[in-house]
Amino acid sequence: PRVASLLYEVAPGTQVDVSGWVRSRRDSKGGFSFIELNDGSCMSNLQIIVDADVPNYEDSIKDVTTGASVRVTGELKESPGAKQRVEMQAKTLEVLGTADAESYPLQKKRHSFEFLREIAHLRPRTNTFGAIARVRNCVCRAIHDFFQERGFLNVQTPIITTSDCEGAGEMFTVTTLPPSTDGKPVDYTQDFFGKHASLTVSGQLEGEIYATAVGPIYTFGPTFRAENSHTTRHLAEFWMVEPEVPFCDLDGNMQLAEDFIKTIVRRCLDECAEDMQFFNDRIDKTVLETMNNILEHEFKRISYTEAVELILNSGKEWEYPVSWGSNLQAEHEKWLTEEHFKQPIIVFDYPRSIKPFYMYCNEDGKTVRAMDVLVPGVGEIIGGSQREHRLDVLEARFQECGLDPEEYWWYLDLRRYGSVPHAGFGLGLERMILLLTGMQNIRDVIPFPRTPNNAEF
Ligand code: 4AD
Ligand code: MG
Repeated sequence: PRVASLLYEVAPGTQVDVSGWVRSRRDSKGGFSFIELNDGSCMSNLQIIVDADVPNYEDSIKDVTTGASVRVTGELKESPGAKQRVEMQAKTLEVLGTADAESYPLQKKRHSFEFLREIAHLRPRTNTFGAIARVRNCVCRAIHDFFQERGFLNVQTPIITTSDCEGAGEMFTVTTLPPSTDGKPVDYTQDFFGKHASLTVSGQLEGEIYATAVGPIYTFGPTFRAENSHTTRHLAEFWMVEPEVPFCDLDGNMQLAEDFIKTIVRRCLDECAEDMQFFNDRIDKTVLETMNNILEHEFKRISYTEAVELILNSGKEWEYPVSWGSNLQAEHEKWLTEEHFKQPIIVFDYPRSIKPFYMYCNEDGKTVRAMDVLVPGVGEIIGGSQREHRLDVLEARFQECGLDPEEYWWYLDLRRYGSVPHAGFGLGLERMILLLTGMQNIRDVIPFPRTPNNAEF
């Protein structure tokens, strides 16, 4: 059995067999040893007592060092200590793989996250990264359950595509051609796909195809953005969940986003209680308070115009001054969620000039039905919108945005044949994990971060 089940489920008196990695060993003067064993199934270690009469004790115990892998059989016993329900009395001990104590990079002390990033192959063996892996797994299950219980179909959208959904030109090219050396542009008609192809920045456009055919859908996969921003909130490769719902407007979309986040939070509090407590104790003392705050209140909804007025009237000095029509910067989002409202908010109806082509144009001629969910500590966690489903308005938008309608003929067809109002959003998985754990750097909440100059392992 795994350590988690030994610690919390199996009855004392049972003969058991356990394998894992040694966190530490203490030798007592009485000629026996204590091993703290972890196998990643939970935060806590199993304490194992190895008496000197265990076969080969003298020979094997010296190899039981931090980082070594071992297999132990023995009896689970009630623990005399208050810390744990049970401990294990070893009958046999086998060292599977030694770990040289001198060179093993993970010592018992606390290591900096910067240092651990350099040893991405070993950091999952630490308490923090084990806990992140378990919380991330819990979130993924909660995501599928949330949509599956509501009858959404999971649709797999392509990773290689020729359309730029966000229109931001931040795409990674996928090509089999050598780079041009004579200064002439590469001729992509001669390339594998016969066109300039890229890694997807969003599965939304393809999601809309399915949502307007089979009903509510969601996509959940990796997305890629060549944003050259060295921030603690951006990755070049991140995971996004994108629901798309036919016969839905912006209000319905905001409600879905709020229910979705609350459901994920509740699941993690329920199913990862030990790990969540750890984050609260060791990473950020406000994590549990923030989670309860999220569950207890309705997300405050304010229009972009109201948000700008609040920022202008705040009396604060901003690095980036705001005026109607400008993007909200991290500092503004931080102030709104952390100081002004002190809770998650949803900002809606953004200026059409700063949003992509596909958003529904409001009657005022100035705004689109966009929404961003902003949360304390992280900032934007969800971006979404009601989609423009009126063919004539969308065609005019293409012109306004300088896009070639020929390139998006299939997208326009969806408006030509049986068009319906629909809406959807994208949640950045890693931003959600930042919120749940209180971790400060997005590089630490994905197993293998991809950022400028970093794609090794
Ligand atoms: O706001 P974004 O760009 O929205 C879209 O891509 C829409 N097509 C989604 C939709 O309506 N279906 O991105 C959505 C979310 C952001 O709110 C953020 O959480 C996350 O994706 N995100 C990133 N996460 C990590 N690194 C990056 N570089 C990210 N860019 C966006
Ligand atoms: Mg956005």
